[in-house]
Amino acid sequence: MGLVFQGPSRIMPMQHGCSVLHFSPGNDLRVTKILLDALAGQTSPRPPFWFMRQAGRYLPEYREIRTTVPSFLDLCYTPELAAEVTVQPVRRFHPDAAILFSDILVIPDALGQKVTFSEGVGPQLEAITSTDDLARLSSAETNTHLSPVFETVRQVKAQLPEDVALLGFAGSPWTVATYMVEGGTSRDFARTKTWAREDPDGFDDLLALLVSATSGYLIGQLDAGADAVQLFDTWASAVPADQFDRWIVEPTRRIVETVRAEKPGAKFIGFPRGIGPAIAHYVTETGVNAIGIDSALSPAYAADVLQPACTVQGNLDPMALLVGGEPMLRSAAAIIEALGDGPFIFNLGHGVVPQTPPENVAALAEFIRSGAGSGDLR
Ligand code: CP3
Repeated sequence: MGLVFQGPSRIMPMQHGCSVLHFSPGNDLRVTKILLDALAGQTSPRPPFWFMRQAGRYLPEYREIRTTVPSFLDLCYTPELAAEVTVQPVRRFHPDAAILFSDILVIPDALGQKVTFSEGVGPQLEAITSTDDLARLSSAETNTHLSPVFETVRQVKAQLPEDVALLGFAGSPWTVATYMVEGGTSRDFARTKTWAREDPDGFDDLLALLVSATSGYLIGQLDAGADAVQLFDTWASAVPADQFDRWIVEPTRRIVETVRAEKPGAKFIGFPRGIGPAIAHYVTETGVNAIGIDSALSPAYAADVLQPACTVQGNLDPMALLVGGEPMLRSAAAIIEALGDGPFIFNLGHGVVPQTPPENVAALAEFIRSGAGSGDLR
């Protein structure tokens, strides 16, 4: 049957918290986190879901909290407020995971590179462009600097319903390095690539510093109670094929290995955005448990090539949420149809954008929770 979504009458939302109860041999009722089941390679009657950037400016309750702090980083470093904005979308949409509220740029901040966020401009950093500049950075105190983030994890963990997983995260070394070297967002990454090509060993030193700081940061998040972590490699798409192993795969693999040496079995979701078919190589070489796919990758390709090796997460176009309604739900259903028979986590192909109407996110969440498009309901 081709058509999956059949109108609102098919949508029967389940109450939050009653989704998956299993009898264990001791006969005690156990609430499971279906997102963690998916990361372990299992399937559930409906796919688990969460949305990248599910917290943030599109929510009025986020904007209200944001006005109470002078800067965005103050929000990231105030555990009570960061925990509150982490939980806000969980209250509204009942996803299967919360994602820690923080930012990938807390790592350069913790290394001693000043980071500011200004309205309408995005992040601004005092750019480092050479190996000499690396001497200004230090990884000695990163986890002390980041201890408020670990406190946020503990506070969120205490507030979440039992069946909701808590995801930690960090940026991947390449993506974080681009912000550090460009001094902000960039269109062509010319400074970063110039450094990396002129002085490959020096650039490797920057990546190594980021591997070490990021591994320690993720271990801290897992120690504080994160159930799994996602590595965001937003600008992986900019890396040329001949440098892909050196700038993307190797640093990612080393983070996974370093974290698992300390936290055996730690679960990773990799999100190397926009890399096309190189994603299969990324999966086999890095050791991630799940792979986040962007909206340009065909779900059928992901089902054929990636799902036999790992859990797939994705990949509704965030712009579908600007329009909402049946077109959005049809697109979601097509993704569930292609990927729902294997280990799968429903998500977007990138983050929720600030102009998204929250009611469209609510409709999408309800559609997935109802099991529409999944298994027998198909
Ligand atoms: O809900 C969540 O997903 C958790 C929070 C989260 C934020 N940033 C909050 C945030 C996460 C996971 C991130 C990751 C992040 N940060 C990435 C990777 C994911 C992606 O979107 O590609 C990147 C590249 C960054 C760097 C960053 N942080 C930029 C470029 C900006 C400015 C964006 C803009 O539109 O102004 C930020 C700021 C930021 N991070 C905001 C939020 C909610 C907005 C700041 C504000 O409230 O003023």
